[in-house]
This record gives sequence, C-alpha cells and structure tokens, in this order.
Amino acid sequence: MFSRIELKRVYGLAVCLLLIAVVSYAAFGVTPPKPPARIVFQSVAGKALFDHARHAADTGYSLTCGECHHTLSKDEYDQASSCTECHDAEKGDADVPKRSDALHQQCIGCHTEYGAGPVECTRCHVMF
Ligand code: HEC
Ligand code: HEC
Ligand code: HEC
Ligand code: HEC
Repeated sequence: MFSRIELKRVYGLAVCLLLIAVVSYAAFGVTPPKPPARIVFQSVAGKALFDHARHAADTGYSLTCGECHHTLSKDEYDQASSCTECHDAEKGDADVPKRSDALHQQCIGCHTEYGAGPVECTRCHVMF
C-alpha cells in the first residue's frame, strides 16, 4: 500500500511529466517538411528526374544536406526549404542566379567535381 506522502509524490511527479509533455509539444510539435523521395522537374527541355532520397541517404551517395541546401548550417538541416524561396524561377542576377541556372550550376558542378553523375544534357533531360 502507498502512504499518503508517497501518493502525493506520485501525483506530483505525474503533474510534472504532463507539464513537460505539453510544453515540449508546443515547442517541437510542428513537423518540418519531409525531404522528398523523388522530384521530376518539368522544363522546356523535357523532364529531368532527381532522386533526392538516393542523393541524401547513407545507403545512397551520402551527401550532406548542406552541400545542396547551402545556406543552412548543420543544426538547421531540418529547416531545408525549396530553392525557389531565394532563387526566382523567372529572373536572377550575377550574385543570385535564377532557379534553373542555380540547379544546373549545382547539379552539374557536383557531378563534375565527383567525377560521377550525368553532365550531358540528354543524360538528365528526357523528352516524352
Ligand atoms: C544533392 C542535393 C541535395 C541534397 C544532398 C539534399 N537535398 Fe533536399 N532538395 C534538393 C533539391 C534540388 C530540392 C528541390 C528544391 C525545389 O524544388 O526548389 C530539395 C528539396 C527538399 C525539401 C522540400 C522543400 C520544399 O519546401 O518543397 C526538403 C524538406 C529537403 N530537400 C530536405 C533535405 C534534407 C533534410 C537533406 C539532408 C538529409 C537534403 N534535403 C539533402 C537538393 C538536395
Ligand atoms: C535562403 C536563401 C537561399 C536558398 C533557400 C538557396 N539559395 Fe542558393 N544562393 C543564395 C544566395 C544569397 C546566393 C548568392 C550568394 C552566395 O553565393 O551564397 C546563392 C547562390 C547560389 C549558387 C551560386 C553559387 C556561386 O558560387 O556562384 C548556386 C549554384 C545556388 N545558390 C544553388 C542553390 C540551390 C540548388 C538551392 C536549393 C537546393 C539553393 N541555392 C537554395 C540563397 C539561397
Ligand atoms: C553535391 C553533389 C551532387 C549534387 C548537388 C547533385 N548530384 Fe546527382 N549525383 C551525385 C553523385 C555522387 C552521383 C552518383 C554517381 C554514381 O555513383 O554513379 C549522382 C548521380 C546522379 C544521377 C544518376 C543516377 C541517379 O541517381 O539517378 C542523376 C540522374 C543525378 N545525379 C541527377 C542530379 C540532379 C538533377 C541534380 C540537381 C537537382 C543533382 N543530381 C545534384 C552527386 C550530386
Ligand atoms: C544534372 C542534370 C542536368 C543536366 C546535365 C542538364 N540539365 Fe537542364 N535542367 C535540369 C533541371 C533539374 C532543370 C529544371 C530547372 C527548374 O525547374 O528550374 C533543368 C532545366 C533546363 C531548361 C529550362 C530552363 C528554364 O529556365 O526553364 C533548359 C532549357 C535546359 N535545362 C537545358 C539544358 C541543356 C541545353 C543542357 C546541356 C548543356 C542541360 N540542360 C543539362 C537538369 C539538368
């Protein structure tokens, strides 16, 4: 049997845990956007497939989020967002390239650097 004091302690602990749960939920309950598995980019040059999961997974090419989501530091990887947030689809300038130029530069730049992955137009672009 529990004594009164013990019961009070147990209730006290339960209330504390509940408070912690509520506060944690309020602070961390917002689920960040999930990384996409695959993206098919549509363009005037045809479709280009990007296997996001394979590029990022440890069982794939093991690239870090920051190699592509280049404005994020390590502890911000869960805030990764669309490139379009900063690289406009229509226009860019010398400093901040427009979206398609940014993607070309990054995709082809890395494939060249690693000596792996497609660099020729028709290896990425497929006309349907
Ligand atoms: C090889 C490059 C690359 C790597 C590595 C990478 N991403 Fe991405 N990610 C992209 C591209 C490109 C997009 C598409 C952005 C767009 O549509 O403008 C994207 C989109 C996303 C999106 C969807 C954003 C939205 O609002 O639609 C999330 C979330 C995301 N990535 C998270 C991650 C996380 C987390 C990691 C690391 C585990 C990661 N990414 C690794 C290139 C990459
Ligand atoms: C939060 C804003 C932001 C997001 C999101 C962002 N960029 Fe950028 N990006 C910039 C800015 C600002 C510059 C120009 C300054 C610099 O080089 O950092 C830039 C420059 C670049 C450059 C040119 C780099 C160079 O050395 O000239 C490439 C390529 C690029 N971004 C690709 C991407 C890709 C691909 C994504 C999505 C996976 C992305 N960016 C997401 C802000 C962003
Ligand atoms: C930071 C480096 C990096 C970036 C950025 C990157 N890739 Fe890759 N990609 C690789 C590597 C490494 C491989 C593996 C090649 C191999 O092992 O044969 C690869 C392979 C590929 C392949 C062939 C195999 C597959 O997975 O389908 C395609 C297609 C491809 N990448 C498309 C893209 C596109 C489109 C983008 C830009 C949206 C992109 N990649 C950005 C590193 C990168
Ligand atoms: C590594 C893969 C890859 C290679 C190699 C590649 N592209 Fe692309 N290209 C893409 C992706 C991804 C997009 C989608 C960009 C977007 O939606 O903003 C694109 C978009 C385009 C667009 C549309 C641009 C716009 O502003 O709408 C044209 C045109 C294009 N590519 C031509 C080419 C040509 C020409 C080559 C060869 C010199 C080439 N691409 C090589 C991946 C690639």
